[in-house]
Amino acid sequence: PVIHRKDYMPFAWLVPDVHLAFKLGLENTRVTNTMQVKRNPDAGKTPVLTLNGDGLKPLSVKIDGEDASSWSMNGPDLAVTLPGDAHEIEVVTEFSPQDNTALMGLFASGGMLCSQCEAEGFRRITFFPDRPDVLSTYTVRMEGVEEQFPVLLSNGNLVDEGKGEGGRHWAEWHDPWPKPSYLFALVAGDLVANTDSFTTRSGREVRLNIYVREGDLDRTHHAMDSLKRSMKWDEETFGREYDLDLFNIVAVSDFNMGAMENKGLNIFNTKYVLADVETATDGDFDGVEGVIAHEYFHNWSGNRVTCRDWFQLSLKEGFTVLRDQLFSQDMGSAPVKRIEDVRILRGVQFPEDSGPLAHSIRPDSYREISNFYTSTVYNKGAEVIRMMRTMAGPEAFRKGCDLYFERHDGEAATCEDFVRAMEAGAGLDLEQFRRWYSQAGTPKVRVSLTHEGDTATLSLAQTVPPTPGQPAKYPTTIPLRIALYDRDEGSHDGEQLVILTDSEKTITFDGFAKKPVLSVNRNFSAPVSIERDIPRDELVFLAAHDDDPFARYEAMQDLFLAHLLGEVRGSLRPDERDAGRADIASVFAAVLDDDRLDDLMRGELLILPSQTYLMEQMSAANPTAIFDAREGLKALLGSELKDRFVRMHERASAVPFSLDAAARGARKVKTGALQYLAAADPERATGMADTQYKQADNMTDRQGALMVLAGLDGVERTHALLDFYNRYQDNPLVIDKWFALQATSLHPEALAHVKALAEHPDFTLRNPNRVRSLYMAFAGNPHAFHAADGEGYRLIADVILKLDPVNPQTAARFVPALGRWRKLEARWASMMRSELERIAQAPQLSRDTYEQVSRSLD
Ligand code: ARG
Ligand code: ZN
Repeated sequence: PVIHRKDYMPFAWLVPDVHLAFKLGLENTRVTNTMQVKRNPDAGKTPVLTLNGDGLKPLSVKIDGEDASSWSMNGPDLAVTLPGDAHEIEVVTEFSPQDNTALMGLFASGGMLCSQCEAEGFRRITFFPDRPDVLSTYTVRMEGVEEQFPVLLSNGNLVDEGKGEGGRHWAEWHDPWPKPSYLFALVAGDLVANTDSFTTRSGREVRLNIYVREGDLDRTHHAMDSLKRSMKWDEETFGREYDLDLFNIVAVSDFNMGAMENKGLNIFNTKYVLADVETATDGDFDGVEGVIAHEYFHNWSGNRVTCRDWFQLSLKEGFTVLRDQLFSQDMGSAPVKRIEDVRILRGVQFPEDSGPLAHSIRPDSYREISNFYTSTVYNKGAEVIRMMRTMAGPEAFRKGCDLYFERHDGEAATCEDFVRAMEAGAGLDLEQFRRWYSQAGTPKVRVSLTHEGDTATLSLAQTVPPTPGQPAKYPTTIPLRIALYDRDEGSHDGEQLVILTDSEKTITFDGFAKKPVLSVNRNFSAPVSIERDIPRDELVFLAAHDDDPFARYEAMQDLFLAHLLGEVRGSLRPDERDAGRADIASVFAAVLDDDRLDDLMRGELLILPSQTYLMEQMSAANPTAIFDAREGLKALLGSELKDRFVRMHERASAVPFSLDAAARGARKVKTGALQYLAAADPERATGMADTQYKQADNMTDRQGALMVLAGLDGVERTHALLDFYNRYQDNPLVIDKWFALQATSLHPEALAHVKALAEHPDFTLRNPNRVRSLYMAFAGNPHAFHAADGEGYRLIADVILKLDPVNPQTAARFVPALGRWRKLEARWASMMRSELERIAQAPQLSRDTYEQVSRSLD
């Protein structure tokens, strides 16, 4: 069945209170669920109360304490017919957590029990109106064998605990804040905590615990610091304070997603909690900081104000992603963070928006909501709110946010509520801007600048491309930050914000005796793709002079892009090709030589546009040609600028380890240099990488060196891979890296390596991190995945088919990789498509995979 946004109806019943009693066991858990229900005065009157279930059978149903017979199963759901307006309903269910390989609901992970309820996992635990607009106060009693489950956790506060018979013990938790079922959480296991405290600005002392397995305790300090910084930052920046005396985080190794914001009991994938210098890279440290912040920020944007229905998902996710992005910008280098975020948007969200799975940030329909936890809802959703902030300015934006929280605290709200609060609080007119919520597709903006006399004329034209189900689009509101550079002075008279609302717009600027150079969409003020007619020398100018770091990066990217696309299309005359290469080499040399640049930014500027982003620019892409052109350019730069790269590597290698920005930057350019040298001079790079590997005193250097070695041939490769495995074989997160490095490697035999690794004793389909570390990594390996004989596509299709019965949510996440077929040249397109067809023919597909495959084939 397809669910439509327009069909929303408030639920006929309210469930103000719920009491859950758990008898915990890995093989069998029994839940006694007692709900106080009453009619919803704001909804249609019906005697039937439908409680969602998924794979459950009620062991007993009582109404007001009496065994009831007025119930029946309605498919997976339990329908109870009620005589009056208010009743107590008790339902008992039982299930086996250890057989729950889907990891939704209550499941076992390494001997502990833990839950994941968003979006619709609660119905795998008990029968309940499992929808985000039914808010209840929860009391949870958990009971189990103390030796097996010494720690018993749920939402809110611990109110009582005690011992029972036969080595059993129990705990009772109460959460005073009404919440929807998707925010329920439970953990039982043998865990230890890193404990700390935070005093809120109004003087509440909050106890903070990060629960992990015993051996992981000393890897929790960065997460704890990140949490305290998040709490402080949210008070200062958004005026949001924590609202309980306890905040618990638990790390689990089997988890479908990054983490979950359950009220007072966040549950995390270990990948986003555990970090120390020996086992985590600088990027991993940032990942922990960002996800800890994200989940903490949900306490307001998501929990205090939740979503009316799942079509509103971006209300909490887009907003919370923006909040975590702003936080990370403040904690580290703002421009570098902005560039990274835009890279994710372009690398993942733009392809989504131009492919068969395109949807607006507030979708109109779905079959399986898990498929809509997408880069569009999260990352484009964040960009949409960022545009409001750009148009309003930070102070007015804050007023809009304050009004939103004030108006909707304790409610299940909609995206429309957010937009209205922004209009009233920030003083914006968002009438037309609302189209960002309903239209899918990345808008294209054509930009040109002409000059006559002393007037420069800027012409802008927008189109929003058609997407599945949305053939015709309307113009939207596009805020573009621009600056006009005097090409002799190399400076400009200040940035301006131009807001494009119609299909076309022209603006004139006087006082330019010479044609200025246009810098546009500065700091990526709008999530659009800019098509500009700009001569190469102006890009070279901006690459050297733009004072907006993002725009400088962008000018370089455009320079690379134009050249690489020319190479791929074979459309460059030999002299154009040489001139293009010479320009790129000189821009690169300038970046390598520029003392005013910090290394973090330098490292960023040295990254060529990704294969996916290049593919995105073409209508019938030849992945092999793109790969060859990109690697060819790397080799060329590596050899032209060899001495500079070697010097940079030496300079950076002399910087002693620390976690400050300078040392992190040094590590970034160090491995960056190795990558260019590896393309140009594999032998020399092997020696340097081997030394870097052996001398490494941190994971960033070690992983960087191993990544380079993994792409090359030789005994150094074999030795380093073996050494790495032996060193870290007891640390699953590092073994994930070991799999991923081989699966993403530039080595020509990467595909064969992946097949062999699938047989490795450490490989399992039961652990999502491990599955992703082998196969997601592989699906992102441009040469191996797009192998000329279609073997890469076959491999991914096989994984989807094998994984689907085990863990449908994770299986469905592999489908988009095969959904890109329309973008490819016929030969690849037909091989990809036939793999999708093969999956579609499988006898028993989950709703998750079925939806993604059928949309991809349509
Ligand atoms: N709300 C979580 C987060 O953004 C993600 C939960 C994802 N759940 C799912 N079924 N896809 O942090
Ligand atoms: Zn989130």
